[in-house]
Amino acid sequence: MIAETPIEEWPDRLEAALKAGGNSRHRVFVVRETDSTQEAARRIGASANDVVVAWRQTAGRGRLGRRWFDPENLGIAATFVRTAAAPEYLAVASAVGTAWAAEKLLDGPVGIKWPNDIMVDGRKLAGILIQQTSDLAFIGIGMNVNQIRWPATLADRAVSLAQISRPVDRLEALGILLPALFRSLFQARDVLEEEFARRDCLRGSRATFLTGQEIVTGRVLRTDPGRGLLLSTDAGEVFLPAATTTMCRAADVETRGTAPVTPVAKTSH
Ligand code: BTN
Repeated sequence: MIAETPIEEWPDRLEAALKAGGNSRHRVFVVRETDSTQEAARRIGASANDVVVAWRQTAGRGRLGRRWFDPENLGIAATFVRTAAAPEYLAVASAVGTAWAAEKLLDGPVGIKWPNDIMVDGRKLAGILIQQTSDLAFIGIGMNVNQIRWPATLADRAVSLAQISRPVDRLEALGILLPALFRSLFQARDVLEEEFARRDCLRGSRATFLTGQEIVTGRVLRTDPGRGLLLSTDAGEVFLPAATTTMCRAADVETRGTAPVTPVAKTSH
């Protein structure tokens, strides 16, 4: 266990971390408890460049209707708000910014698994949920920080900073994540794509996906975080759209055969 900085100190310290990173046009909202920082941001009326962080998130949301669990408040839950933009740009930018932060905290490399999971040794360290309205994008980041035990369903899929490296004060992790995200969310696209490609841990590998109600296996030829991925299958090349595609684990495909399945994980970690 680590002695955490009390929540009362979070707002000023996070403001300072952002200012030190050169960001002054923002507001930081720290909430003690919320269902989801995505919802909290909307309720607060957050606008572009604001960020909402929660000490405790009780009903975190994941991609494709999944849930994001952190019942003991051991991880980070943050939502960044910025002006609406092309989904593929936001997906790359948020993945790269989170990867930069994770690498700084771990002092070592991480991978990005399409579309934007942050991975270490095949296990998920952080997940990203992007939701947009006509004028705003809500970029939700969940990072596993001090978890050392997982429910059986997550044990071989999730990992935390504490498990890989060391226990970390969540304020320290947020103080690194926030400026990294602000930096990446205003970075040129070609720089971000190069950073993404260097960490892409799916391209070239053989994998199975649930796309709509169908299971498709093949070698990943190209990944585009916002649009989808290109797969080489026995039946030729197929494009799987990001909005309706999720990756399956081998065990799940073996046990369920080729019939339509529900996504492998009801949780997103
Ligand atoms: C995923 O991997 O499916 C995405 C998980 C995103 C979780 C974060 S936690 C902060 C923000 N608030 C939410 O309700 N979800 C995101």
